[in-house]
Amino acid sequence: MKRIAVLASGRGSNFQAIIDKVSDGTIPAEIVCLITDNPSAYAIERAGNHNIPVSVISFSDYPDREQYNQALEKTMIKCGADLFVLAGYMRLLKPETVRTFSGKMINIHPALLPSFSGLHAQKQALDYGVKIAGCTVHFVDEGMDTGPIILQSPVVVLNNDTEDSLAERIMEFEHQALPHAVKLFCEDRLEIDGRRVIVHDTPSE
Ligand code: GAR
Repeated sequence: MKRIAVLASGRGSNFQAIIDKVSDGTIPAEIVCLITDNPSAYAIERAGNHNIPVSVISFSDYPDREQYNQALEKTMIKCGADLFVLAGYMRLLKPETVRTFSGKMINIHPALLPSFSGLHAQKQALDYGVKIAGCTVHFVDEGMDTGPIILQSPVVVLNNDTEDSLAERIMEFEHQALPHAVKLFCEDRLEIDGRRVIVHDTPSE
């Protein structure tokens, strides 16, 4: 059984979606810890409800980015997870950290990458005027939202959409896409082949 660690900075609804699919046996894994940079993240309460250990690594507790990153990396190594899921973790990881966990870290982003990376992705999509928005789950590499794509879900943009209404509809798809990608990983069905991720029907060798 795989061990999953989740990194989240805020509300944690994607974290909850993973918890639910682990609890009902859809994802064959154990969630071994929540790591957050935000001591008041609602995700902490969600972890508490399910007896999931929490590590708070708050940026303001460290004199500089280097020491913050060292503490984060130490915590990640200590929790001994097979997979690290960035579920609304809003801090960019250092390239060294990404390399340490290469092929073992995935992220959910509320846009159809490579369009609209970074912050406020839904607003970027509306401002550009695209008709199809969506979400992407991808492996994390050293760039911002640039790693190999595991899966994407399209969401139609409506005439009267606001940033909030679009974000809310995309979120419904995020809550399906992220647990599904986690499940595929935990079933050893993902293979990274250069920029492409091959999704196997059965566990890959
Ligand atoms: C989600 O929409 C996620 O895609 C986004 O933050 C939100 C977290 O919501 N992540 C990013 O924008 C990362 N670039 P949640 O805390 O309710 O899961």
